[in-house]
Amino acid sequence: MLKLTYLGHSAFLLTDTQHHLLFDPFLTGNPLAPVQAEAIKADYVLLTHGHGDHSADAIAIAKRHSATLIAPYELAIYCQKKGCKVHPMGIGGAHVFDFGRVKLTIAHHGSGIDLGGETLAYVGSPCGYLVTLAGKTIYHAGDTGLFSDMKLIGEMNRIDVALLPIGDNYTMGIDDAVKAVELLNPGLAIPMHFNTFSVIESDPQEFVDKVKAQGQQARYLLIGEEILL
Ligand code: NI
Ligand code: MN
Repeated sequence: MLKLTYLGHSAFLLTDTQHHLLFDPFLTGNPLAPVQAEAIKADYVLLTHGHGDHSADAIAIAKRHSATLIAPYELAIYCQKKGCKVHPMGIGGAHVFDFGRVKLTIAHHGSGIDLGGETLAYVGSPCGYLVTLAGKTIYHAGDTGLFSDMKLIGEMNRIDVALLPIGDNYTMGIDDAVKAVELLNPGLAIPMHFNTFSVIESDPQEFVDKVKAQGQQARYLLIGEEILL
């Protein structure tokens, strides 16, 4: 049995009976965070890119729980230099872990880390994740614009749940995310990356209604809400 918990923004906790997979933890500094980072347990931390609204708590949580941090190569090496146990991967690559399979997809976005002062580290390509465990495949798109390869991703993977940004400005807005659902054809689409800040204000019900109007399934999760998959 799989449980998916929405931790706000693009952060999700995916758990089976044994493993805790944490995506893009951004609790410290998130005005809508449902819990403190210290309350989150993880065996694996999966990072889509280096921006602070995805990676803020990743290193601290990974170190606290001796979790394995999975990320695109350059970002993984950055985290390794900060003391994390890491598993670097590359776009298009898959690996079988003890919980299941992880494959990295493209994402059209950036991936810099603000090092303070005048310094910005660029940490490789951003990514999305296809994670298959307990017989289900979850697609976390990361931060991305719409891209036509989503059709290929949908053709080659039976996606049970797709987590898609809808906040616009930095990522897809609602209409592009609705098109993404058409291309990916998941069993269920769940919106993310909205309403955390005023610049990404977006109505998740509008997304849900538009997905349903094209004959597909969507629902939005309240922050802190969990569903069984
Ligand atoms: Ni970003
Ligand atoms: Mn972001």
